Amino acid sequence: MTNSRPALARYLCALFCLAASSVPLHQAAAQPTTRSIWEGIYTEVQADRGRRLYLKECKECHGEDLSGGETAAGLIGKELVSFWSESSVGVLFEEMRETMPEETPGKLSDRVYADILAYLFEANRFPAGEEELEPNVDRLARIGISPKPE
Ligand code: HEC
Repeated sequence: MTNSRPALARYLCALFCLAASSVPLHQAAAQPTTRSIWEGIYTEVQADRGRRLYLKECKECHGEDLSGGETAAGLIGKELVSFWSESSVGVLFEEMRETMPEETPGKLSDRVYADILAYLFEANRFPAGEEELEPNVDRLARIGISPKPE
C-alpha cells in the first residue's frame, strides 16, 4: 500500500485528537463490550441497502472500492480494523455520524449511517447474520471491533 504512511499519521492524529476531546463527545466509549463484530451483526439485505447509500454519499471521496482517495482514508482492510480495534461499533457509528460526509456531517438519518456501516462490514468480510445492525448507540457500543479470531 503506497499511501500507508500518511494514512497512519492521520490515524495517530485522529487518535490523539479524539483522546483529548472524547469525554463528552463519545458516550459510547465507556461501555464494556459483550458481543463481537465476528458474530454476524448485520444482514446481507442491509449491506446491500448500505452499498447503494455509500455509492451515493461517500464514494466521491473514499472511492468506489473503499480504498480511499487523495485525502480521505481507506475504509477497507487492515487500516480499518487496526484503527478501530479495541473500540466498538458504537464509537465508530458516532464518529461517522459526527464527521461524515465531510462537508455535511450528520445530514443522514441514523438508519442510513447504520446501513452504510453494514456495507463497510460486509466489504471488510465481517460475517453477515440474522439481525440488522440497529441504529442505537447503546447497543452498538456493546459490539467490540477486533482482528479476526484464529
Ligand atoms: C467530501 C469528502 C468526503 C465524503 C463525501 C465522505 N468522507 Fe469520510 N473522510 C473524508 C476525509 C478527508 C477523511 C479523513 C479525515 C480525518 O482523518 O480527519 C474521512 C474519514 C472517514 C472515516 C474515518 C476513517 C478512519 O478509519 O479513520 C470514516 C469511517 C469515514 N470517513 C466514513 C465516511 C462515510 C460512511 C461517508 C458517507 C456517508 C463519508 N465518509 C463521506 C472525506 C469524506
